[in-house]
Amino acid sequence: MYADKVVAITGASSGLGATLAQRFAEEGADLALFALDEEGLLETAGLCRALGRNVVTSTGDVGKPEDCEKWVDASVAGLGKIDCLIACAGISMWAKFEEVEDVSIFRRLMDTNYLGIVHCVYYALPHIKTCKGQIVAISSIQGKIGVPLHTGYVASKHAVQGFFESLRTELVGTGVDVLTVLPHWLRGTNLRKAAFGKHGGALGSSSRKHSKESVTLDDASEAIIKAMKKRQRELIIPFKLRFLPWLHLINPKIVEYLVRRGVDKEDEA
Ligand SMILES: NC(=O)c1ccc[n+]([C@@H]2O[C@H](COP(=O)([O-])OP(=O)(O)OC[C@H]3O[C@@H](n4cnc5c(N)ncnc54)[C@H](OP(=O)(O)O)[C@@H]3O)[C@@H](O)[C@H]2O)c1
Repeated sequence: MYADKVVAITGASSGLGATLAQRFAEEGADLALFALDEEGLLETAGLCRALGRNVVTSTGDVGKPEDCEKWVDASVAGLGKIDCLIACAGISMWAKFEEVEDVSIFRRLMDTNYLGIVHCVYYALPHIKTCKGQIVAISSIQGKIGVPLHTGYVASKHAVQGFFESLRTELVGTGVDVLTVLPHWLRGTNLRKAAFGKHGGALGSSSRKHSKESVTLDDASEAIIKAMKKRQRELIIPFKLRFLPWLHLINPKIVEYLVRRGVDKEDEA
C-alpha cells in the first residue's frame, strides 16, 4: 500500500521515528527524514537505502519554521512529492514543577512538541493535499490525562491534540486524513535520556530500565502502520489502554491514582 509513496518523518535519528522509517522502507516507500542529529539520521537513511529506497535527509530544528520549510522543499525537490507526514520529533521532561530551576524548559517543550508539528504541517500540507495523503501526529497518552513530573510535556501534547482535532474538521472533504497516535511508555528510545531535568539540562544516561508495561518500537510501529492503512483517526498504544480516556471522564480520581502509581514504578524501575 505504501510502495512508491513518499513518507516524511521528523525525529528519524532515533527511537520511534527511526524504526518507522525502516518499516516504511520495507513497505517500499521512499523517505524524507529530518532530525537535529546528523549522525543518527544518516544511520537511519543508510538502513533504508540498503532496502533499495530513495532517501532525502535534512538536519534542523522543528522549532524553527525556516528549517521545516527547507526540509519540505528539499524533500519535494528530491523525491517529487510528499504523501504522508509523520510528525514524531519530540522531547520530554522529568521533574516536579516546583523543583524546576530553569523555567525556559516549558517554552522549549512547546517549541519542539507543539510548534514543531505546526511548522511541518504548515509547509507540507499543500503537497499532502495534492496526493490526498495522510498526516500522523505522534502525540502521547499524556495528551489526554495529567501525569506528575511531566507538566510541560503533558501541556505540549494536549496542545497537539487540540490542534489536530481542529485541523481534522478543516480537512473534511479534501481527501487528507489525520491520525493521532497516543502511546504509553515506549522501550528503546532516547526520550528519557534527552528529557529536561530540574536544572534545565538533559537527564542523561540512566541505569533505570523501563518497566514491563512499556511497548517495543517494533510493536508500536506495526500498530501505527496498520492504523494508517485503515485511515484510522486515533490510535492508543497498547490496545488495553484504549478505555483510559473514558475512565478519566467517568472517574478522574481513579485514573490519577493509577497514573501516579505508574510513574512511581517507572521512576524506580
Ligand atoms: N518514549 C516514550 O515512552 C514515548 C511515549 C509516548 C509518546 N512518545 C513520543 O514519541 C515521539 C518519539 O520519541 P522517542 O520516544 O522515539 O524518543 P527519541 O528516541 O528521543 O526520539 C526523538 C526524536 O526527535 C528528534 N528531535 C528532538 N528535538 C528535535 C528538534 N528540536 N528538531 C528536530 N528533531 C528533534 C530527535 O532528534 P535528535 O537525535 O537530533 O535530537 C529524535 O530523532 C515523541 O514525540 C515522543 O513524545 C514517546
